[in-house]
Formats: sequence, C-alpha cells, structure tokens
Amino acid sequence: MASKSKILIVGGTGYIGKFIVEASAKAGNPTYALVRDSTVSDPAKSQIINNFKNLGVKLVSGDLYDHNSLVKAIKEVDVVISTVGAGQLADQEKLIAAIKEAGNVKRPHFQ
Ligand SMILES: NC(=O)c1ccc[n+]([C@@H]2O[C@H](COP(=O)([O-])OP(=O)(O)OC[C@H]3O[C@@H](n4cnc5c(N)ncnc54)[C@H](OP(=O)(O)O)[C@@H]3O)[C@@H](O)[C@H]2O)c1
Repeated sequence: MASKSKILIVGGTGYIGKFIVEASAKAGNPTYALVRDSTVSDPAKSQIINNFKNLGVKLVSGDLYDHNSLVKAIKEVDVVISTVGAGQLADQEKLIAAIKEAGNVKRPHFQ
C-alpha cells in the first residue's frame, strides 16, 4: 500500500485551519502545522496546541514572512495546505515562492 502523504498546514491554528489539521491527522496522514513561536506560548491558543500534540501533529516553528522557515518546513512534506487569515491572502505568494524553491511539492492547495 502507498504511504500516506505528509501534509503541512499553514494557518492551522486558525478558526478554519484547526479543523483541517485535525482531519488530516485523524485520516492517518503525517501532519505538520507551521506555528509562530508567539502562538505556541499564547494562552488563548493552548487548547488548540494541546489538541495538536495529542493527535501527534508535528509543530514546526515558522512564519509566512520568514522565507527560510517556510522552505525548511515545506521540504519535510508532500502537500501544503494554506488556511492563513484574510489579511494574509495576498501574501500567500510568499508561500508559492518557498514551494518553488523547495521543489518537492506537486500540488499546493490554497483557500
Ligand atoms: N472563518 C470563517 O468563517 C471563514 C469562512 C469562509 C472562508 N474563510 C477563509 O478561510 C481562511 C482562514 O480564515 P480563518 O477565519 O480560519 O482565519 P483565522 O482564524 O484568522 O486564522 C488565520 C491563521 O493564519 C495564521 N497566520 C496569520 N499570520 C501568519 C503568519 N505571518 N505566519 C503564519 N501563520 C499566520 C494564524 O496564526 P495565529 O494562530 O498565530 O494567529 C491562524 O492560524 C481565510 O482566507 C478566510 O477568508 C473563513
């Protein structure tokens, strides 16, 4: 049987993204969530972060505005899903640039 795709969600701690992270992990995909350091230590996000940990989600430190962090995270996976907020939609071009540089992702998915 083919192995499950490794999936990175950018924006996974958001309203929509948390459901996608959970669904990916429960479907058995190795699941990675790119999370800003400030969010990992944010008490308001602790329930989401703890749920991710309990589901076996790998938390990857990074930021949409930190190109190197994106490339490093993307190189770990097969699929990238973006659920960043409305304010970051235009800046998803930064994610596309990182995907092109990483060179290993065939089908990016954007909201
Ligand atoms: N909410 C809805 O009902 C709804 C309905 C239809 C469509 N949508 C669309 O779905 C998308 C997501 O919406 P949402 O309501 O889930 O947004 P949200 O709750 O604001 O979540 C945004 C996500 O983006 C992350 N993010 C923000 N800046 C970032 C950065 N610089 N680097 C990395 N991650 C960053 C946030 O991280 P932090 O947790 O660190 O802030 C959070 O995980 C948007 O395009 C929206 O238009 C939403």
